[in-house]
Amino acid sequence: MKFSADSLLQIINDILDFSKVEVGKMDLEQEPFNLRETLGLALKLLAVRAHEKGLELAYRVAPDVPDTLRGDAGRLRQIIVNLAGNALKFTERGEVVVQVEMESFSPQVRLKFAISDTGIGIVKAHQARIFDAFTQADGSTTRKFGGTGLGLTISSRLVELMGGRIWVESELEKGTTFYFTAAFKCQQTVAEVQDSLFAVAFLNSLPVLVVDDNATFRKILGEMLDALGMTPTLADSGPRRSGRSKRPPFLTRAFRWYWLTPTCPKWTDSHWLPN
Ligand SMILES: Nc1ncnc2c1ncn2[C@@H]1O[C@H](COP(=O)(O)OP(=O)(O)OP(=O)(O)O)[C@@H](O)[C@H]1O
Ligand SMILES: [Mg+2]
Repeated sequence: MKFSADSLLQIINDILDFSKVEVGKMDLEQEPFNLRETLGLALKLLAVRAHEKGLELAYRVAPDVPDTLRGDAGRLRQIIVNLAGNALKFTERGEVVVQVEMESFSPQVRLKFAISDTGIGIVKAHQARIFDAFTQADGSTTRKFGGTGLGLTISSRLVELMGGRIWVESELEKGTTFYFTAAFKCQQTVAEVQDSLFAVAFLNSLPVLVVDDNATFRKILGEMLDALGMTPTLADSGPRRSGRSKRPPFLTRAFRWYWLTPTCPKWTDSHWLPN
């Protein structure tokens, strides 16, 4: 019952948004916001769905992307939730990853977002049509997956209002990546952004071991630690039970910090690590 009420409310909101955009009455806010926080919030809304389907959900913001921007955080979150929500809906196994990179800094900060999944994919012939209102790639998917076919239409209009564009690359049975660009005013200068990267000087060259069986998470964590000036070593698993007698090569150095994923199935012998 709660689910039907939520779905109905979602459809009504979508139709209202769609009408607003169509009559040119959608105005975007220009308020300061924190980009990483906004993305974190958007993905938090989707984390339960990802968990229920057994999918990995991750996001990565390139280190040179400034944090404090000015624009419409609510509408940006709506685009991300639409695209990442689609990615989860049309993926049965694997992962959904949201990535943000810098395109250009001046006169405004232009960011490039990529939302990729390892799902069913979209045939070439349908790729151009899916941004049209009420259009779904395949009539039969409507019954299987639900929805009204407005999510992408609204998202693409919002992207336009943010001075960007949206496009898709997809391979059937392999997965889909939606890209969009958007421009924001920046609250910081280039120098301030760079300074904030080096603000945590005490972490400089600190050796840290990252053990995670998910390659995407490993890459994201490695990059974040790199950006903080630390020296990460990445490993996909801890020592196996069979290798008890032999210390794995990555454990021959002294690490000051460890990142161990609690769910890493192969991490069986954490006793190798000093306390
Ligand atoms: N990540 C994806 N993988 C595969 N197909 C996708 C993906 N994203 C969108 N599509 C296709 O594009 C269609 C349109 O997407 P859109 O978000 O506009 O509508 P919807 O998700 O079907 O419904 P709504 O968003 O209104 O609930 C989808 O029905 C689906 O066929
Ligand atoms: Mg949708």
